[in-house]
Amino acid sequence: MKLELSAEQQMIQAMAREFADSAIKPIAAEIDRDARFPHETVKRMGELGLMGIAVPERWGGSGADAVSYVVALEEIARACASHAVVMSVNNSLYGDPLLRYGTDVQRERFLKPVASGHTHGCFALTEPQAGSDATNQATLAVRDGADYIVNGRKRFITTGRESSFALVFCQTDRAEGHRGISAFVVEKGAPGFTVGKTEDKLGIRASDTAELIFEDCRVPAANRLGDEGQGFKIAMTAIDGGRIGIAAQAVGIAAGAYERSVAYARERKAFGVLIGQHQMVQWMLADMATAIDGARLLTLRAATLKDGGRPYRTAAAMAKLFASETAMKVATDAIQVHGGYGFIREYEVERAFRDAKVTQLYEGTSQIQKLVIARDLLGDHDGRA
Ligand code: CAA
Repeated sequence: MKLELSAEQQMIQAMAREFADSAIKPIAAEIDRDARFPHETVKRMGELGLMGIAVPERWGGSGADAVSYVVALEEIARACASHAVVMSVNNSLYGDPLLRYGTDVQRERFLKPVASGHTHGCFALTEPQAGSDATNQATLAVRDGADYIVNGRKRFITTGRESSFALVFCQTDRAEGHRGISAFVVEKGAPGFTVGKTEDKLGIRASDTAELIFEDCRVPAANRLGDEGQGFKIAMTAIDGGRIGIAAQAVGIAAGAYERSVAYARERKAFGVLIGQHQMVQWMLADMATAIDGARLLTLRAATLKDGGRPYRTAAAMAKLFASETAMKVATDAIQVHGGYGFIREYEVERAFRDAKVTQLYEGTSQIQKLVIARDLLGDHDGRA
């Protein structure tokens, strides 16, 4: 693996950093407080090519690679984790499977407007009873002539309210279990498709997390992605890539909290000296920097494997596991470095603490990442991803 970024990757990283610093950072605390979706800045991220980074230009994207995606995503997350998750889902969980499994007609209709940032796409796998246990899908799609009739509910769907297109996983043959799951693109406005409640969350409060409800919703068979029964593989493959994005988000959250801690250690005095001169604070900062570098390298490794067309499922799970645990630890220690000031909103490390938590939960909890890694170590591996 090359440790140096290419000129193009560095340019994308610098562009994302400049945008994050100038446009996102100034509003991050306010949109978190108000739980307000940042339409304007997300639209500008689309104009900058960040909403479909690795999608070829032909399909509305930037034609860059997965390494560019993670370095840009880290920069966005460093300023605001909510913007980062919107970018991550659009790219990895919606864009990637549409690119990989879609026909040209589907890519033209459902991928191009999303990859170009004109609108958003979401990924609807989770259900009330199917979180970690993702094979346990209850949403049903029954064939009816040239259509399917979809009934069911999806829960905790990132960008569910704001998206024009939802990639929805449904049982088309219950008897087949997970081999009877199929994937469909459902358009906003389709009769029988409504958005239910939007969640009031601990962190990533400016992103939208919604319930999707399907009541006799008629979906054209032409909207089915891949074959009948291929849906669970499509979902798992998308999530393998998505975990690299969440790892990058976690690295960005940690890096932002660490940088604030270093700045604070250089200005705050206690016992007559700057707190950065106290060994106990130095150790915390040293541990933070080391863990962040480790998480970043694991994330870049997974992205490099993906770019090289090599298996990356386990590498992605390792990156996501280590980066999300690092984000939580770093954000906790960042509050410790700030003392009582870290506990109040003004110093912003409390937002990192709240945002970090979800990286241990979504796109597979830390426990699920360990399960995926351990199965690979123990040889329960069929060469997938
Ligand atoms: N790639 C391709 N296929 C895969 C796969 C992968 N990574 N992982 C599993 N599969 C296939 C298996 O080959 C198997 O297929 P066959 O039986 O046809 O061979 C099938 O899927 C079932 O796999 P398992 O037998 O391993 O099923 P399991 O129930 O024991 O374990 C699991 C599956 C790993 C726990 C999986 O359910 C999982 O990853 N759960 C976590 C779900 C998750 O990450 N949800 C995230 C929701 S999206 C989100 O969070 C977005 C957001 O908000 C930001």
